[in-house]
This record gives sequence, structure tokens and C-alpha cells, in this order.
Amino acid sequence: MSNTKTVSTAKGLVIKDLNKSYGSVHVVKDLNLDVLPGEFLVLLGPSGCGKTTALRMVAGLEEVQSGSITLGDTDVTTMPPKYRDVAMVFQSYALYPHKTVAENIGFPLKMRGIGVTEREQAVREAAQQVHLETLLERYPRQLSGGQRQRVALARAIIRRPAVFLMDEPLSNLDAQLRGFMRAELKHMQHALGVTTLYVTHDQIEAMTLAHRVAIINDGALQQLGTPREVYNDPANLFVAGFMGSPPMNFIQGEIENSRFQGAGIDLAVTGVADNGKTTLGFRPEDAEVVDAGQGLFDAIVYAAEMTGEQTLVTIELDETYFVIKMPKDFETDIGSQVGVRFAAEHGYLFNTGSGTRLRNCAVVMV
Ligand SMILES: Nc1ncnc2c1ncn2[C@@H]1O[C@H](COP(=O)(O)OP(=O)(O)O)[C@@H](O)[C@H]1O
Ligand SMILES: [Mg+2]
Repeated sequence: MSNTKTVSTAKGLVIKDLNKSYGSVHVVKDLNLDVLPGEFLVLLGPSGCGKTTALRMVAGLEEVQSGSITLGDTDVTTMPPKYRDVAMVFQSYALYPHKTVAENIGFPLKMRGIGVTEREQAVREAAQQVHLETLLERYPRQLSGGQRQRVALARAIIRRPAVFLMDEPLSNLDAQLRGFMRAELKHMQHALGVTTLYVTHDQIEAMTLAHRVAIINDGALQQLGTPREVYNDPANLFVAGFMGSPPMNFIQGEIENSRFQGAGIDLAVTGVADNGKTTLGFRPEDAEVVDAGQGLFDAIVYAAEMTGEQTLVTIELDETYFVIKMPKDFETDIGSQVGVRFAAEHGYLFNTGSGTRLRNCAVVMV
């Protein structure tokens, strides 16, 4: 895509104490977010956690129950959608079937009463940004899913909004196209410099696109940080389990007398003597399979899968299963007894009940 900065009016977006309930269901809970001018912020969470509702309140499509939304210097909390300086891209594309690509892209400018010549010029520029310049006379039904999504993007670009709002725009595309469009979107947002609030349930999409990720569960913000921060330093059990593929491995146990016991293992702990129900977590890529007796604990190889770039080893310990990423040339036999090792700083401990991270303590080899 071209590197021309067609938008130079990036504004910050501040969401303060935002709440929304449908009947007795509290869908968005005291949400606070500060999206910086030009930032790509991704709202990430499982299906039904309130992402779309939050985004629709920012767009003005859903009434705010309490709290405020400020765009640049303007409080837009109760402002009708058409006066907000935002453009929304939906999962469903929402194209007009009886209009050509050019007419779809140019529609927001037509609504603003902008003349044909100026409009055609703007349509050509926006189409170039998303590589649609040769398809302008086609109708949506004559386009692939990826091309339709580009039309929706071009229609957002042409408005030159202060903020893009995107609701799972890639989720209707097949895996390969999604990967490609992800890179294009990232490039486009960088080139345009538009403040972007992007919603997805896909943690890979969030990690790869975002400057910062806001992780939501059950309507409440769990953690806000750069992809590295939330991945390496998760605030709680939910964030730890949601970020990463394969996900973090968890062992349920208890800490008593400076020992973590669970799933048939017994490990020394530094930093805390007693904690009751505790979950020990470690990431597949932070651990390694070693000879029996040489690791933190022993377990049985349940399966080993060579994926090409690596070998995923599934380990069974007292009916708990873990995945460990090993190099592609690693070989092992199903049913063999092996050791599992990870460095103390790569073990995460959480209160099982509240999910809170236990900091300043670790399991150690003794
Ligand atoms: N208009 C509505 N009326 C009643 N309940 C709704 C409405 N819109 C969404 N919900 C409910 O609010 C919750 C959050 O929905 P949504 O914001 O769409 O979640 P997400 O986008 O994270 O999947 C869900 O339980 C959903 O069923
Ligand atoms: Mg949604």
C-alpha cells in the first residue's frame, strides 16, 4: 500500500468508567481505556465478553448507560453517530449490493454532498490504499471475501476519520487470507497514522496488530499493556491462559510449608510458605523435555508431533496434560518416562480462587 499519510488529524480516545447492562446482565463493567493519538489498540476477549457492545457505544450506535467517551477535546458520550469523527468497519462488511465498488467507497462523501470530480479522485486514492483500483466497476457479489473486506476498509479510509473502529474485520476470511490481510491492515494503519480501536477474540491477531492490548473478560478489563508485557508478565490466571498458542500449561496444587504439591509432584517454593490452593503455570516454549530425574519432575510422554518447524511433546502427569515445544529434530517414544525442566523465572504461580498472580515467589530445583 502507498505510504501517503492521507489522515493527519489523529486524536486520542478516552473511555472513562463506561458501563452497560441489558436487563440484569452487566455487559460492560467500569471500562477505562486511554487510546493515544495514532495508536493501534486491540480489545481482546472471548466471545460474549462485551467487546462489540463497548465498540458500538464509542461509535454512538448503542446508548451509554454511565461513564464518558471523549474524542480529542470533544465529549461525544451523547453525540449522534454521524457527528462523531469515527469510521466503523464491521465483521459483515455491510456493503450495498446494488452499488459498484466505486459507489460503495464513495458513498460517505456523497452523503456529505461532495461533488463528483472530487469524489472520484478520493475514491481512486482510497482504492489504491487497499489495492482495489482495477475492481472499481464491479459489484460486491463479483468479489472474493478478502476483496469485499478491502471495499469496507476503503469506505472507512475515505472518510478520513480521527478514529477507526473495527469489529473483527478479518474473522470471515480463510486462515491464509487472514494472515495476509493482517499484515496489510498493520501496514495501512501505520501509513495512515489513524487512532484505531480494534476488537477481536483472536489472541494472535491481537498480538501481531496491537501497539497495546486490552484484555477483557466478562465485561471487565483484566490487563492493558504491550503484547510483550501481557504475554511475559500476565496480571492473572485469565490473561496467562488466554495469551499463547498452545496455551500456558497449568498444574493445580497447594503451597504448604514452602512446598508446592499437586498432580503427584512436590516442589520447593521460595518467597511464600503457605498459600492454600495454587496454580503453577509454565509456557510450552519455556520448558524442555530432559532425561528422567534431571528435571523439576518426571512425567510420561503421551504423544510427540513433528509440525515441521518444531516438535510438540504432550506429557501426562497424573491425568493432567502439558505441551512442551522442542526443536524439530527432537525424538522421543510414546510412553517413555522423561523429566520436565523450566527455569524458576519461567514458572508462574497464581491464587487458584481469585486468579491473582503470586509475585516474588517461584518453584525451584532442590
Ligand atoms: N441488544 C442486546 N440485548 C440483549 N443482550 C445483548 C444485546 N447485545 C449484546 N447482548 C449480550 O451482551 C453480551 C456481550 O455481547 P457482545 O458485546 O456482542 O460480546 P462480544 O462482542 O465480546 O462477543 C452477550 O451476552 C450478549 O448476548
Ligand atoms: Mg462481538
